[in-house]
Amino acid sequence: MDTAGGGAEARGQTSWLGLEEEASPFSGKKATKAATDIKRWSSVVNAAVVTLILTVPPLILLLSGGLSTPTVWIRSTVASVGSQMRASESKKDVLLGGLLVPGFDEQTCASRYQAVYYRKNMTRQPSPYLIKRLRQQEALQRRCGPGTEPYTSASERLRSGQTDVDNVDGCNYLVLISYRGLGNRMLAMTSAFLYAMLTGRVLLVDRGYGNTLADLFCEPFPGTTWALPPDFPVKNFKQLDEDAPESYGNVAVNRSGSLMGLRFVYVHLDHSASPANLLFYCDDHREFLHRAQWVIMRADQYIAPGLFFNPAYQEELDRMFPRKDSVFYILSRYLLHPTNDIWGMVTRFYHSYLSKADETLGIQIRVFDSDKPAQQILDQILACTSQERLLPGVVTTGGGGGDPPPRLPTAGARSMAVLMTGLSSWYHDNVREMYWRSASIDGEVVSVHQPSHEEHQLWFATKHDMKALAEIYLLSLTDKIVTSGWSTFGYAGHGLGGLTPYVMFRPVLNGTAPNPPCTRAMSMEPCSFGVPHFECTRKEFNRDVLQGKLLPHVRTCEDAFWGLKLAD
Ligand SMILES: *[C@@H]1O[C@H](CO)[C@@H](O)[C@H](O)[C@H]1NC(C)=O
Ligand SMILES: *[C@@H]1O[C@H](CO)[C@@H](O)[C@H](O)[C@H]1NC(C)=O
Ligand SMILES: *[C@@H]1O[C@H](CO)[C@@H](O)[C@H](O)[C@H]1NC(C)=O
Repeated sequence: MDTAGGGAEARGQTSWLGLEEEASPFSGKKATKAATDIKRWSSVVNAAVVTLILTVPPLILLLSGGLSTPTVWIRSTVASVGSQMRASESKKDVLLGGLLVPGFDEQTCASRYQAVYYRKNMTRQPSPYLIKRLRQQEALQRRCGPGTEPYTSASERLRSGQTDVDNVDGCNYLVLISYRGLGNRMLAMTSAFLYAMLTGRVLLVDRGYGNTLADLFCEPFPGTTWALPPDFPVKNFKQLDEDAPESYGNVAVNRSGSLMGLRFVYVHLDHSASPANLLFYCDDHREFLHRAQWVIMRADQYIAPGLFFNPAYQEELDRMFPRKDSVFYILSRYLLHPTNDIWGMVTRFYHSYLSKADETLGIQIRVFDSDKPAQQILDQILACTSQERLLPGVVTTGGGGGDPPPRLPTAGARSMAVLMTGLSSWYHDNVREMYWRSASIDGEVVSVHQPSHEEHQLWFATKHDMKALAEIYLLSLTDKIVTSGWSTFGYAGHGLGGLTPYVMFRPVLNGTAPNPPCTRAMSMEPCSFGVPHFECTRKEFNRDVLQGKLLPHVRTCEDAFWGLKLAD
């Protein structure tokens, strides 16, 4: 891991919930130290858990009364939830119609095989063509990935500065820099993966400070790794910035596309990237990028809508995604499987608080301008849930006479579980108190739950990111969802779940909630910030792009007038 890379990270650091520019609380080195401590701590806990598993007599032994092997014990523990649900439901297609490949070890990544029992049936099916392309990509990742002969020679060429080699053995690489919050990273990973598929590159993901990648996500490709090896030859790649000689904008504008003397091309797709760097979205076979064996990309957001601008990709994208609103939904289900530790957190919370309710509602709260609780935000949440009839009203005392006497619950009264996520517990406490002090108008039983409240953002702290990922997954399991505008955390939650959210407009903290408080989004896709402002055929500024008039499936986001999202 590249500890020298702290500079760029700290400069552009932000929270795991959104895109605000904020200063990092610690340098890369301190972050690494903290993460190592946490890692040490968590491996102690893991050891304790394993001991517990091995000392508690497993169910299967009690039932059979016979001897069993430790493998079976562990399997019975890890997979017990799945098998219970399997017994009560008909067997489900865990591979999602061929989206996922068989052959992974079920024990090492239980979520891959169990998620289908928690999620709603897929509302968009992967096209046969996409499935074919995924199998090709998996083969490419295996053939060229870390540890292979082609990878070793490609790294050697990168180290020695021998470039412009034009596809020596059919192995080209896309290295994705991990930075900013977890939601940002999930959006960037998923859409960078789409770009890797479109351009036939092997996707390698930087492990992040504190090596968090493997604590968060299972390996997505069979027989290889997507983690960038620690001995990656470009030492300070995390510090690359727009003004680097290797940046796409510089090569395009100042070098007329010449790669002479450059070891790689750096693609800067931060949400605030300059127009010159956004020319990347229009790169095609006449340009220079395909001649670079190594591309290093910085992205903190969802780049998929920008790829639809490129005429070179349009036909391929149409074949992969007959429904344009399914890009994140399908690719995230393919790519992002939480590790067993996180999946345990998701499923335990789900069974404790959500599974028995008739209906579940997710409310994701991200306040950008302040960590302090704000009445105005609570007002906005309640105005939104009332306007959209997501939460029942409560019985209020009209003009003096005292509360009506409590009623016995009617048989079969509906129950609703509300999952709230956010840094502060204040909103949750208030909503819960509302349904404790007063009855709901229609007799519905409302329970309100919040898994964690960290109060402040932390950066690349393993335990913090693991909880955040568990919450994003829990949000994705709800029936309906309210999200905070501009929040990549919310985008990831509703996108994974295939949920079309009710988006709350980002407020100005002046005491008055925006009116209207929220709106139903046009699709389940995340919003993309930092989009090309031109049409690729002419490469000139075009106002229609921003107004979402240029391409039928790319429209202006509800919550950000400069953002674009895919819709059908
Ligand atoms: C989900 O799909 C299964 C078949 O895999 C089907 O039996 C079930 O009825 C579906 N559930 C819903 C709610 O559509
Ligand atoms: C082109 O070069 C000039 C002078 O070095 C530099 O200021 C400018 O930022 C470069 N343009 C791009 C797009 O990188
Ligand atoms: C507060 O900001 C909102 C926009 O969020 C605006 O509509 C409202 O007029 C502002 N109120 C005051 C008192 O400035």
